[in-house]
Amino acid sequence: YPNTVKAVRGTLLDISEIGSDLVSIENNLRYIKDGLLIIHQGKIAFAGEWEDGRDSLPESLRICDYRGKLIVPGFIDTHIHYPQMEIVGAYGEQLLEWLNTYTFPTEMKYGDKRYAKEMAGLFVKELLKNGTTTAMVFCSVHPESVDALFEVCDQRNMRMIAGKVMMDRNAPDELLDTPQSSYDDSRRLLKKWHKRNRLLYAITPRFAPTSSPEQLEKAMALREEFPDAYVQTHLSENTDEIEWVKSLFPERNGYLDVYDHYRLTGERSVYAHCIHLEEQEWQVMAETGSSVAFCPTSNMYLGSGLFNYPKAVKDNVRVGMATDVGAGTSFNMFQTLNEAYKVVQLQQQKLSALEGFYRATLGGAHSLYLDDKIGNFAIGKEADFVVLDPMATQVQQLRWDNSTTLSEKLFVLMTLGDDRNIYRTYVDGTMVYSCTR
Ligand code: GUN
Ligand code: ZN
Repeated sequence: YPNTVKAVRGTLLDISEIGSDLVSIENNLRYIKDGLLIIHQGKIAFAGEWEDGRDSLPESLRICDYRGKLIVPGFIDTHIHYPQMEIVGAYGEQLLEWLNTYTFPTEMKYGDKRYAKEMAGLFVKELLKNGTTTAMVFCSVHPESVDALFEVCDQRNMRMIAGKVMMDRNAPDELLDTPQSSYDDSRRLLKKWHKRNRLLYAITPRFAPTSSPEQLEKAMALREEFPDAYVQTHLSENTDEIEWVKSLFPERNGYLDVYDHYRLTGERSVYAHCIHLEEQEWQVMAETGSSVAFCPTSNMYLGSGLFNYPKAVKDNVRVGMATDVGAGTSFNMFQTLNEAYKVVQLQQQKLSALEGFYRATLGGAHSLYLDDKIGNFAIGKEADFVVLDPMATQVQQLRWDNSTTLSEKLFVLMTLGDDRNIYRTYVDGTMVYSCTR
């Protein structure tokens, strides 16, 4: 191996490729107690038993020794708003009032490039502190906010997706663009950032109520011109929102049909929430290969409702986990899974730890059509990973010790875990966060 090689020793845990059949997660779980990761130029060159790989390492190579820790693929957050980091935990409102009271006034600040850059720096630091190495991010309506975030992410060569919010109605004047300006700005940003290193661009109409039909037509034009770009928006989060969409677009057959009409459904289209879908909307999600970003902490916090996760699984709809900060209350994927478990409990079903782990890693990658690049330790994949300390607290230690199976131990981590369990985070083979405790 040339001198760009890195080696990391510890317990490896990942899920190799699986089909749609979730029963196979357990069969495809790879647990290597004394494992070795070899990274070459930011990619996985070897993942396996320490004993099998050690001989191929050069004598002089320093090995990062994480024995006793758990090394997992970086977490994937499929929906989050970076300008909303500063309004997490705002009191008392449901979606539409929450937007008007807290969100819009805050997002106004992100037209200031210096401010946006400072906040983007804090935001990315917070992601990495929580072991999240890829996220699909809403910026604000201002192009400056997009440049700010991408500049920060590019510095660390992160696999990140983001876009400029498009909205031309039903928000304060200061936050509105126009169909033409939103097209021009989005197109320029897309050409500048999409596929620059590991960055990807998402065409980002905020949600149907804040876009005129003319603007949605512009979004459609962009999608058609750049078919490998992403689309991100919100769908069926809140019952008042749904009624509003129906009154704004009476000629459409429901909420999702608005997006479908403008050809915004399909592969690499990610819809946050999807709580109150009707049967035919579920079908459109499945048939078009569109994805859901499941945002449990947000959905409970805003009182939006319970995402029908079992239905999504049954209908073979792609689902990734998402924090949806700032309506979501935590950046942390364990806390998000903890809340997801409760959402599923309230529907008399179960979300196992293995399934949760899948959703936060390979399943998230699958929902973003990135499972050929990230999500596990397959050879050639990008080396984004997290070193977990599964026993960061006394109670965690007790529970870890008195659990017997791996599934039980992981479930304890999913329920009790938070940023204290993130020991190190690596992006592109490089350590980008180290716990200081
Ligand atoms: N719907 C439209 N905009 C937003 C937003 O910023 N957050 C959430 N949770 N839902 C939305
Ligand atoms: Zn959102």
